[in-house]
Amino acid sequence: MDRIIVRGNGPLSGQIPIAGAKNACLALMPATLLSEEPLTLTNAPRLSDIRTMTELLASLGAEVTQLQGGKVLASGCHGEINPVADYEIVRKMRASNLVLGPLLARLGHAVVSLPGGCAIGARPMDIHIEALEALGAQIELKEGYLHAKTQGGLKGAVHEMRFASVGATENFLMAASLAKGTSVLKNAAREPEIVDLANCLRAMGAQISGDGTSTIEIQGVDLLHGATHPVVTDRIELGTYMLAPVIAGGEVECIGGRIDLIAAFCEKLDLAGISVTETDKGLKVKNRGDRIKAVDVVTEPFPGFPTDLQAQLMAALCTAEGTSVLEEKIFENRFMHAPELMRMGANIEVHGGHATVHGVSKMKGAPVMATDLRASVSLILAALAAEGETEVRRVYHLDRGYERLVRKLSAVGADIERIHE
Ligand code: UD1
Repeated sequence: MDRIIVRGNGPLSGQIPIAGAKNACLALMPATLLSEEPLTLTNAPRLSDIRTMTELLASLGAEVTQLQGGKVLASGCHGEINPVADYEIVRKMRASNLVLGPLLARLGHAVVSLPGGCAIGARPMDIHIEALEALGAQIELKEGYLHAKTQGGLKGAVHEMRFASVGATENFLMAASLAKGTSVLKNAAREPEIVDLANCLRAMGAQISGDGTSTIEIQGVDLLHGATHPVVTDRIELGTYMLAPVIAGGEVECIGGRIDLIAAFCEKLDLAGISVTETDKGLKVKNRGDRIKAVDVVTEPFPGFPTDLQAQLMAALCTAEGTSVLEEKIFENRFMHAPELMRMGANIEVHGGHATVHGVSKMKGAPVMATDLRASVSLILAALAAEGETEVRRVYHLDRGYERLVRKLSAVGADIERIHE
C-alpha cells in the first residue's frame, strides 16, 4: 500500500490550482441518466471517487468517456437502462445513492443498494426516502437494497425535509425535474454544489428556481436535453490548501478560489490572525510565521462552517496560541483524526461531539494512519510544520478527494513524497 512521507520544513510560497469540486461532480454525473442526449462536464476533478461513479453509471447503461486526461467527462445514456445499482460498486462510496432520484425519474423504478463511504457516522438514507416518497415513490428496504417504484411516474409535491441533507436535496432536484407538475422543497440544503447542480439541470432544460436558498421550486418538464456544464471550484480542496501556509508559514495563492464559496471559513482565519486577500486569479493567504490564535468552531450546513474542513482546521489549531473548542454537528463520529494528531504531539480531548484543542508550540513527525478522506489530509497538513518525518499510511483515502496532492504541495516548496508499493 502506498505511503506519503512529509518532512516538516520552512515557509511555502507559490500558487496551487484548485480543481473542480468532487462533491459537485458526483451529483452532476448521475444527471446524465435523466436525458437521452449527451451531458459534458468540464473542469472535472481527477479522483478515484469520480472513477467509481463512472463505473456505477456504466453498470446502469450510461457511457462516460474521459477526455483531456479526465478534466472533461462526456456522458450519454441513450440505450437501455439497468435499474439495479449493485452493492459491489455502491459500497465503495456513499454518493452512489445519487442515482436513486434520476433512475426513478427516468424509469419509474429502481433498485439501489444501501451505500458505504467514509466511516464517519450512521449516515442513513431516511431523509432521501421521505423526499422521494413525497413525489409519489414507494420505497421498501429488502436485503440491503432500496426497492423503489412509482405508479404512473413521479408527481410534483410540496415537501419539507427534517434536516437540510445535501444528498437528499440533490436526489429531490433531479427526480422533481422530470415529475409531473410543480414541486417545492422546503428546508433544502444551500451548499454551492446544490446551486451547481441546479445550474446544470437548467442548462438541460429543467425549470428550477430558489436554489441557494432553503426553498427550491421545480416545475417538472417532460424531457431534458443535452448540455455542457463547468464543475464549480472545490471549496473543500480550496480551504485545505489555504491552511498549508497557515500551518507552515509563507504565502500561497489558490487559483480559482472565491470567498463566497468559503466565507465562514475565511471568518475563522481572520479571527485566528490570518489575512486572506482576493486576487484576480483567486485567494491569497499569508502567514508571516506567527502562531495563530485559538478559535472556536461549530460545523453547520452551508453557509455555516463546513464539516469537511473541520479536521484540517483542527490540524492548524493544534499549534495555535490558546485553547480552541470544535463542535461537530453534522457527523457524530468525525474526530478520528484527533488520536492521530495526538501521536504527533497535539494536546486534544474529545468528549462526544466536542474536541478541545490546547495549542502546543510544535508538532513532531510520527507514523500515522489515515482514517477517512478529510482526516488524512489533516495529517499531511500538520506534518508540513512538524519536526522531523511523518509517514501517512492508507493514502487511498486521499486519492478519493485530492488530485495530485503531492505535486501541488511540492510545487509550493513542501518536502513531500509518495512511496509506491
Ligand atoms: C455531503 C458531502 C459530504 C459532506 C456532507 C455534509 C457529497 C458527495 N458528500 O454528504 O462530503 O460532509 O454533505 O456537508 O456531496 N442524514 C440522515 N438521513 C439521510 C441523509 C443524511 O440522517 O437520509 C444525516 C447524515 O447521517 C449526516 C447528516 O444528515 O449526519 C448530513 O448528511 P448529508 O447532508 O445528507 O450529507 P451527504 O449528502 O451524505
